[in-house]
Amino acid sequence: MDIDAIKTQVDFEIGSVDSVRSLEAFRLKFLGRKGIIAQLTSSIPNLHPQERGAFGQEVNALKNKVSSLITEKQRSIASGSGESRQRTYDIGMPGIAQELGSLHPLTQVLNEICGIFKKMGFAVVEGPEIESEYNNFTGLNIPLEHPSRDVFDTFYLKGKERLLLRSHTSPVQIRVMKKQKPPLAVIVPGRVYRPDAVDASHSFMFHQIEGFMVDRNITFADLKGILEVFAKAVFGEDIKMRFRPHFFPFTEPSAEVDISCIICKGRGCSVCGKKGWLEILGSGMIHPNVFKHVGYDPKKYTGFAFGMGVERIAMLKYGINDIRIFFENDLRFLKQF
Ligand code: PHE
Repeated sequence: MDIDAIKTQVDFEIGSVDSVRSLEAFRLKFLGRKGIIAQLTSSIPNLHPQERGAFGQEVNALKNKVSSLITEKQRSIASGSGESRQRTYDIGMPGIAQELGSLHPLTQVLNEICGIFKKMGFAVVEGPEIESEYNNFTGLNIPLEHPSRDVFDTFYLKGKERLLLRSHTSPVQIRVMKKQKPPLAVIVPGRVYRPDAVDASHSFMFHQIEGFMVDRNITFADLKGILEVFAKAVFGEDIKMRFRPHFFPFTEPSAEVDISCIICKGRGCSVCGKKGWLEILGSGMIHPNVFKHVGYDPKKYTGFAFGMGVERIAMLKYGINDIRIFFENDLRFLKQF
C-alpha cells in the first residue's frame, strides 16, 4: 500500500469530520483493529527484510499523525466550533450580576401606612388628580373667599370648567360619600399639587393620605384611638401624641396632631424647633355642611377625617432633611431603601 496516498486520504477525510459520531467512524477506519493502519502493520512480515525498518517507521509516524488529528478534532467538537452544536460550559466563569431594583421610599411608606389602616378595616380608594372646583372646595365647605382658592395657592387648568389640580386628597371624601352610604371607612393615598416655591420643605407636588370614617355614633374618641394605633405602628410604641385645636372649613371641631419628637424624645432639638413635638397631620369631625353637600343627614351620621403628608412622615421616619431629594432619582439615595 502507498503510505503517501493514505496520508492524503487522512488529510482529506478529517476535514469532513464534524461530530462525535463521524469522528468515531474516522477512528475505526484508520486505527480500528481491522483498520488501515492495522493492515499496514500486518503486511510488514511480507516485506523484504531490508525494507521492513523504514516502512515500520513510516507506519508509526502515520499512526501518530492520525491519533493527534483525532485528539485535536475531539477538542474542537467539544468547544462547539464547526457545526457540531455540542457545547461545554465553563462553570468557573464569573456570572453577569443582575442589579436589583427596589420600591421608592415614598411608595414604601405609603404602602406601610395604607397597610396599617387596611388591617383596621379601611378600604383603599383613589381619586383623580384633576378635580372640579366643587369637589376640591365647595363641597368641602370652603368658602369662595377662602385664600386656598386663590390662583397663588391652587393650579387651575385653562378652560371654562374651572378644573384644577387637586390641592389635597379631601375631594375624594365628596366622591366616595356621593356614591356610597355609611358605614364607611376609607383611606385615600395620592398626589396633590400646590404652587409653592420649591425649597427644602416645599414641593409643588407631594403625596397625601386621607382617611375618613362615617357611621352612626362615630366620635372624636374613635379618631383618637385609630390615629394612636397608626402613630405607634409607624413611629414606635413609646411615642406620645397630642391633639392641638385648629381650624379646617370641612371639620368641626378640628385638631392638628403632634407626636413627641422622635429625635430628642420631647426634650427639644433642632428638628422639632425646641418644642419637643412634631406636627404630623390635620384632622377633625366631618362638618355637617359637608354631609349636606353629599346628601347625608347630619342628624343621623357623624364621622371623622384626617389628612397627612407622606413626604413629611417619610422625612421624620428616616431623618431626611430635604424634600427635593425624593424627586431627584439619585441612585445613591434610592439605593439606601
Ligand atoms: N385636607 C387638609 C390639608 O390638606 C388635611 C385634613 C384632612 C384636615 C381631613 C382635616 C381633615 O391640609
